[in-house]
Amino acid sequence: MSTVNHNLNNRPIGFFDSGVGGLSVYSRFKKVLPYEDTLYYGDLAHLPYGNKTKSELVSYARNILDFYKEKQVKAVVIACNTSSAQAYDTVKDEYDFRIYPIIQSCARVIASQNNKRLGIFATLATVASGAYTKELKKYNPALEVKEVACPNWVNIVESGRYKDESAIEDVRVHVKEILEFSPEKIILGCTHYPYLLPILHKVAPNIVFLDPAEIFVDYIKQDLQQAGLLNTVHKSEEHIYVSAEPRSFMEHSAIFYKVEELPELINFALL
Ligand code: DGL
Repeated sequence: MSTVNHNLNNRPIGFFDSGVGGLSVYSRFKKVLPYEDTLYYGDLAHLPYGNKTKSELVSYARNILDFYKEKQVKAVVIACNTSSAQAYDTVKDEYDFRIYPIIQSCARVIASQNNKRLGIFATLATVASGAYTKELKKYNPALEVKEVACPNWVNIVESGRYKDESAIEDVRVHVKEILEFSPEKIILGCTHYPYLLPILHKVAPNIVFLDPAEIFVDYIKQDLQQAGLLNTVHKSEEHIYVSAEPRSFMEHSAIFYKVEELPELINFALL
């Protein structure tokens, strides 16, 4: 029988994504809130999330949230735009801890940044959901938004193929498409895409790309603070899990976060 941790503040916070992408949020979080105990789950067995159906994405999210419930977390960070777009609305009331979805948590700040035209790069499933446009227009109905799906980018990142000419060409094609809309700024609407910033800056040197990680972490910090949920013990622990390929995860995460130990393999389908 597991022991019950009564002190809510000092419980861990769980993060999840399909792979290393969510580390772009996680690494920022560790800098801003270094005293929080954290768990990270990279669902590599189901990567890429971007070409999965809504019911598949809901089922993956439920498995991970159930796992985190057992771990007695005080909150879960959906460090994945695709899961936020397709699964969050369905699962949000099923748990008694806080759940932070990246798109919905950042929309107010992004929408109030004084832009008229925003471009969004995201996965197929995020673009199909229209979640970015819907959430941004809630706060700024006059905003014009164009979402462009980049189906190959997650695999480029997870396989570390940044320097391949075919990867650069793929980035060039989608940049060209979005620039036809003349956006003032382009949101990286997938947590894997910040890994591609060196290529994006090379292909489009005059364009402003926005990685929502900073806005997202500020939002989480403020909410935890207001709820009186910040950790009071000044010492933090972390544990990283993956549903497949721990070595590949460790290797390809390095740009954003130094994973010190081989992640623990936990695949819910095999339990
Ligand atoms: N990094 C995730 C996102 O923010 C998922 C990408 C994928 O697995 O397709 O959308």
